[in-house]
Order: sequence, then structure tokens, then C-alpha cells
Amino acid sequence: MDPNDAARILDEQLAGGLRRLRSASTLDELETAKVEVLGRKAPLSEVQRSLGSLREESRRELGRRTNEVFTALREAVESRRSELEEGAGSVELEADAVDITLPGRRPRPGSLHPLTLIEQQMVTVFTRMGYRVAEGPEIEDEWHNFEALNIPTDHPARTMKDSLYVDVPGLLLRTETSAVQIRTMESQPPPVYVIVPGRVYRREAVDATHLSVFHQLECLAVDEGLSLAHLKGTLEAFAHEMFGRQIHARITPDYFPFVEPGAQMAVSCFICDGVGCRVCGNGWLEQGGAGMVHPTVLENCGYDAERYTGFAFGLGIERVAMVRYGVDDMRLLVEGDVRFLEQFEGVA
Ligand code: FA5
Repeated sequence: MDPNDAARILDEQLAGGLRRLRSASTLDELETAKVEVLGRKAPLSEVQRSLGSLREESRRELGRRTNEVFTALREAVESRRSELEEGAGSVELEADAVDITLPGRRPRPGSLHPLTLIEQQMVTVFTRMGYRVAEGPEIEDEWHNFEALNIPTDHPARTMKDSLYVDVPGLLLRTETSAVQIRTMESQPPPVYVIVPGRVYRREAVDATHLSVFHQLECLAVDEGLSLAHLKGTLEAFAHEMFGRQIHARITPDYFPFVEPGAQMAVSCFICDGVGCRVCGNGWLEQGGAGMVHPTVLENCGYDAERYTGFAFGLGIERVAMVRYGVDDMRLLVEGDVRFLEQFEGVA
């Protein structure tokens, strides 16, 4: 090879090689460019191979120059490689980038169970009227659950059929919150204005309107001069607060050993509007039992039944929830199906 040609090729290879290497936009492209510029078949390598055939003087001069070009191009490969590697890193960083200006994803805080919501609403209705909340044990003795409530030993409610007994003689799971009427009157003199929300237990055939573990809200008022009118007014006020004026409330006679006279409170069915359907049967949904406290019950608690009168009622919280939320099967309230429960998210 002519030394002048060789010198020209070296210059061209340096300038062209640098351009080629710098224009590589990916690591793969850089590898290809490196082979083209520095590989065995590259013009630069040809010049290197031809050096041996040159005269001493030109060989030294062109040999030095060839080494310089090789070094410059190798350095260019390395510097482009690190640029591209850094770039690849920042592409990854960009892909992983978090936009801190975007609104965050709200965590789902969960919600109160519909029965808890209803219980709270019922408690609010009565505490606004001036009632105090009282509590009693769920495992009760026969005195508070039956005897003091004027339920004689041979009453059907006393048999194993209706009640769930525990292994300790004389104790059972309370069948109604009325037991807390007795505990309250035993613990304080009149006047009494209490409500008792709580769980009760019965041996029941479970269906759309019956569970064997359910909740009641008991109300007891004992004072001088209380009459059936006070009972009716209180129940009506409750029904209007809870269900609104489109639902009608009805009070009809009923029998409970611990009241005289006894009554039952029902509201018009939210499904058939009082006509009669699969859920209500006759157009009315029973909400609770009620009545004027039996004088014997007052006396059992040491109250003067000549001076004081009282009224009481016990509402089924599940039944109230059915009407309030339009639930046509009470079992939905206890099955824990999230698809049902999440409908109450955000309900206050
Ligand atoms: C009683 O439990 C009486 N203690 C109510 C009472 C209190 C009367 C004070 C007089 C004075 P009853 O068994 O009817 O009554 O139940 C009252 C309410 O609880 C029913 O109206 C109904 O709303 C609800 N309830 C009764 N049984 C069930 C059940 N198996 N599942 C769900 N709710 C029920």
C-alpha cells in the first residue's frame, strides 16, 4: 500500500469512525459499528496489516499514527458505551417514575355493618327523647329472664324447645332483652327511662324473617301517670323518625305475660305497600312487642305499683333494618357476603 494512501485512509477512518460510533443509538448498534470500524475486515486493520511491507521510515511514522487512530476509536467506543448504558438506566428510571402530583389511591376504610348502623340510628332516636342506654348479660338466670317477668314455670318459653341453656343449672342465653327491665328496676328507684340494645338467642327455624341469634332494642319507661297513650306516641314517633311518613305504623292487641294490656307494633310492608306478599304475608311487618308493665313485674322489683305505671316494648333490630334498607331476607344481614355489605359503604 502506498504510504500516502495509508495516511489518507487513517485520517478518513478516524473521522468517519468517530462519527459512526457516536451515532450509535443503542448498545447493539454500537457493537455493530465497533466491528465495522475496528474489526478485522475494517480498512484500518488493512492499513495495519500493510505496515510490514512499508519502508522503515514510513512504517514507524504510519505505525505510530495507526496506533493513535486505534486508541482514539477504542476510547470513542468506550465513552459511547457508557453514555448508552447510563441512558438505558435512565430509560428504566423513567419507566418506573412515580408522578407525585397525581392524586393518590384512597384506601378503602371499610364500613359499619348495616345492623350496627341501624342500632346506632335507633339509639339516637331514643336518646334524643331523653332515654339512657342500659346493658345486661347475654347469659342470664331464670329469675331475670322468666320469673320476675311473670313467666310461670309452665310457660312454653321456659321449655328447652324455645330457649338455649348453658351447662350451668339455672342459666340460659337470654331469650329477650326484657330481662334487662328487671335488672334496671332492681338497681334504681323510679322514674326509669332506659333503652337496651342487645343480642338475644332462641331455638328457631331460620327463615327470611327469623334467626336464632338476633338483636332487640328494649325500651322501659316507669313514672307516675304513664299511660297507653304515652306508649303509642313513643312508638309512632320512633316509626316516623326511622322510616319516614310514607310507612304506616299499626298497634294491635297481643299477649306477653309481663305486660297488661299487651300489644304488637307493625309497619306497612315496604315491598307490597301493605297489600300482602311473600315477605310480610298480610301486608304488615311485625317490628316488636309492647305493653303497659304488669303490676306484678313492678312489685317483683320492689316498685310501688299503686303509684307508678310504666310502658315497655322490644323491637327486633333485624326487622327494623329490613324495612329501613329494603332487605327482603334477614339472612342476608348475617351471611357476611361482601357484595351485600359493600352497598352500605358510606351510609351514615
Ligand atoms: C319479645 O321478645 C318481647 N320481649 C317484646 C316485648 C318487650 C313485649 C316489652 C312487651 C314489652 P317477641 O318474641 O315478639 O317479643 O319479639 C320481639 C321482636 O323481636 C319481634 O317483633 C321481632 O321484631 C323480633 N324477633 C322475634 N323473633 C325473632 C327472630 N327469630 N329473628 C329475628 N327477629 C325476631
